[in-house]
Amino acid sequence: ERRGPLSGKRVVITAGPTREPLDPVRYISNHSSGKMGYALAGAARAAGATVTLVSGPVTLAPPLGVDVRPVMTAQDMLTESMAAVDEGCDVFIATAAVADYRPETCAGDKIKKSTEAMSLALVRNPDTLATVAGRADAPFTVGFAAETTDVARYATDKMARKKLDMIVANDVSAPGLGFNSDNNAVTVFWPGGQEQIGPDSKQTIATRLVALIGEHLEATS
Ligand code: PMT
Repeated sequence: ERRGPLSGKRVVITAGPTREPLDPVRYISNHSSGKMGYALAGAARAAGATVTLVSGPVTLAPPLGVDVRPVMTAQDMLTESMAAVDEGCDVFIATAAVADYRPETCAGDKIKKSTEAMSLALVRNPDTLATVAGRADAPFTVGFAAETTDVARYATDKMARKKLDMIVANDVSAPGLGFNSDNNAVTVFWPGGQEQIGPDSKQTIATRLVALIGEHLEATS
């Protein structure tokens, strides 16, 4: 067995964006690069865990020794994450930037331009993080919250609403941090405490976050 603070633990991480198709050539997505989630997967592996990474479409190399399960849409992300959790999971970390809505229908052929204006009907996507946290056998569950205003309040609300053990608030309004950059700055909240990490590289933040998860996991088990 590999040594480290997460030795013998099974960790499932979601990373990257999702793509919600409109027609065969177009989709709705966001600027997530997957860097934060991939850094966490590497750090969890280095801490001794067995790691499954449910990854939206990104251009990163898979971290060494990590089982990567590629997905495209939010619905795929839910299906693959639940399958991975079913295989055994002690810690679930949701770093993915999942599209909250998808086009109501995906056209079979490329949509042609005709009118001056057009509107899209969107429907809600399933929430992977809330679904995992709501399981009777829920693992230690860590969410991320990308916010631009009132970061602490929205993050702690989200932790309570989604029944999370920990939430990582990411202020994505600061330039050079958050989406698609190599650096980040976060505040981690758990019931009864908080810790600021960074600004620093996503690697360094991932290492500290994994150590923090290890400490809390020990306290709750
Ligand atoms: O990928 P990078 O370029 O490295 O950027 C990293 C990041 C900024 C994307 C990441 O650090 C981050 O903040 N991820 C969460 C982004 C987000 O969209 O958060 P949210 O507030 O919409 O969602 C809250 C939580 O619920 C997240 O853990 C999210 O993964 C999860 N969620 C949300 C919606 C949904 N349908 N399913 C989910 O699982």
